[in-house]
Amino acid sequence: MPSYWTLLSSLVLLGRLAGAAPVADILPPTDSFISSDPNPQLWNNDRTVDPVPLRGSRGAAVLGPQNVQLDLLNPDLLAPPTTDNGQVPNIKWPFSMSHNRLANGGWARQQNVYAMPTATEIAAVNMRLDSGVAREMHWHSAAEWAYMLAGDVRVSTITPEGQVWMADVTQGDLWYFPAGFPHSIQAKNNSVGGAEFLLIFDQGDFSEDATFLLTDWLAHTPKDVVAKNFGMQGNLTAFDHIPERELYIFPSAPMPEDIEEDKVIPNNTPYPFTFPLSRVNGTKTPGGSVKVVDSRTFNASKTISAVEVTVEVGGMRELHWHPTQPEWGYFIEGEARLTVFASQSHAQTYNFQPGDISYIPPSFGHYVENTGNTTLRFLEVFKSDVFQDISLNQWLALTPPELVKSHLGFDDSTMSRLTKTKQVVV
Ligand SMILES: *[C@@H]1O[C@H](CO)[C@@H](O)[C@H](O)[C@H]1NC(C)=O
Ligand SMILES: *[C@@H]1O[C@H](CO)[C@@H](O)[C@H](O)[C@H]1NC(C)=O
Ligand SMILES: *[C@@H]1O[C@H](CO)[C@@H](O)[C@H](O)[C@H]1NC(C)=O
Ligand SMILES: *[C@@H]1O[C@H](CO)[C@@H](O)[C@H](O)[C@H]1NC(C)=O
Ligand SMILES: *[C@@H]1O[C@H](CO)[C@@H](O)[C@H](O)[C@H]1NC(C)=O
Repeated sequence: MPSYWTLLSSLVLLGRLAGAAPVADILPPTDSFISSDPNPQLWNNDRTVDPVPLRGSRGAAVLGPQNVQLDLLNPDLLAPPTTDNGQVPNIKWPFSMSHNRLANGGWARQQNVYAMPTATEIAAVNMRLDSGVAREMHWHSAAEWAYMLAGDVRVSTITPEGQVWMADVTQGDLWYFPAGFPHSIQAKNNSVGGAEFLLIFDQGDFSEDATFLLTDWLAHTPKDVVAKNFGMQGNLTAFDHIPERELYIFPSAPMPEDIEEDKVIPNNTPYPFTFPLSRVNGTKTPGGSVKVVDSRTFNASKTISAVEVTVEVGGMRELHWHPTQPEWGYFIEGEARLTVFASQSHAQTYNFQPGDISYIPPSFGHYVENTGNTTLRFLEVFKSDVFQDISLNQWLALTPPELVKSHLGFDDSTMSRLTKTKQVVV
């Protein structure tokens, strides 16, 4: 008589040959399992489809007014996967929804808690400066971390000890100015017509309109005090050309091409306040590559850490979460789908396009899937000195297998696919 185990293994083998579901040796104590519906995104950002809120047998066509352009961009809001449930605070803000501030030679638009109430810890500004145009010399009470989106700028700062850092940065590079450090930003005269960049602030209620500007301060200081301050007591005429109103963004005097000619003193800070991330080779992963940058490599960046993630077609940033930090995300290129899991069965799926912001509260589980036909590239930014994440796959691989099987009913073949090392992008 064949033993129970021989019988069972023959059944398992037969089942596999027949293409049936694999037989797990340990099943969770329930009769109720997840649906077999793969729940894909129903359309891409393809202008020819008619976005209809129908998924399988559920839903019905829209009869009333419809913003078709927005529905095309948000298929998983109009026709969510059946795995979505309950309420999650809004996690998407396209910079296109921000009110722009046009200036003399550029513009700036921002996202903070007033635009996106979920984003309590981090605010951002998207700024454009034409060739030679300067963002007026200023400072603010938040620290500033920046990512160059296009073009080139020259930036400078000084420390409380009177040390100087000045550097040129280009597309894909970073800078970091600690809270209160004064700084300058001027776009170079280049073939792309200046620069565009992303500024990240470690305060959710930061406002670009509430920074401390050089001209604004002096215009609001008694003129005889200004003269006295510069050792020219009584000589008011020397200060006749201080602007009455802030300059903010304006075409400045051309800078020397050679940065060394521009420096008043050579750089002498203990570490750089800029970081050439564009010249760092990404760490290859199964589905793309990642560049982690935090205070371990970019020493100045004490309150912001980040990852630039590249996901190839068909790839995905694996299921994971960040233990203590919210994630501020920015989509640079490609198309993405992201489901955020908020505990208590609450989960919602969103779609992202270039220029969109995501914000994921601490510990909320999520993934980022490349749903387009081109490379997906995005930033994950955190208000911390060191980047941290927890990978679901790694957690399961490092937990006793019997315990994992009792939760999820995986068979041995599935168990053998778990990876003890973090995959990051699969
Ligand atoms: C940029 O350089 C070009 C070529 O040298 C020059 O014609 C132009 O005036 C410069 N623009 C600015 C804003 O300095
Ligand atoms: C006042 O300052 C101006 C500008 O620096 C200078 O040309 C002028 O000689 C000064 N006058 C006096 C009386 O110091
Ligand atoms: C930056 O930090 C790393 C790690 O803490 C350290 O090894 C390195 O010497 C620091 N570099 C500078 C320039 O301070
Ligand atoms: C990056 O990769 C290229 C090509 O493989 C190599 O030549 C270069 O030295 C690498 N750079 C760094 C900083 O490792
Ligand atoms: C990708 O290409 C396929 C085949 O050409 C097309 O059906 C699909 O709509 C495209 N997807 C996107 C996101 O453009």
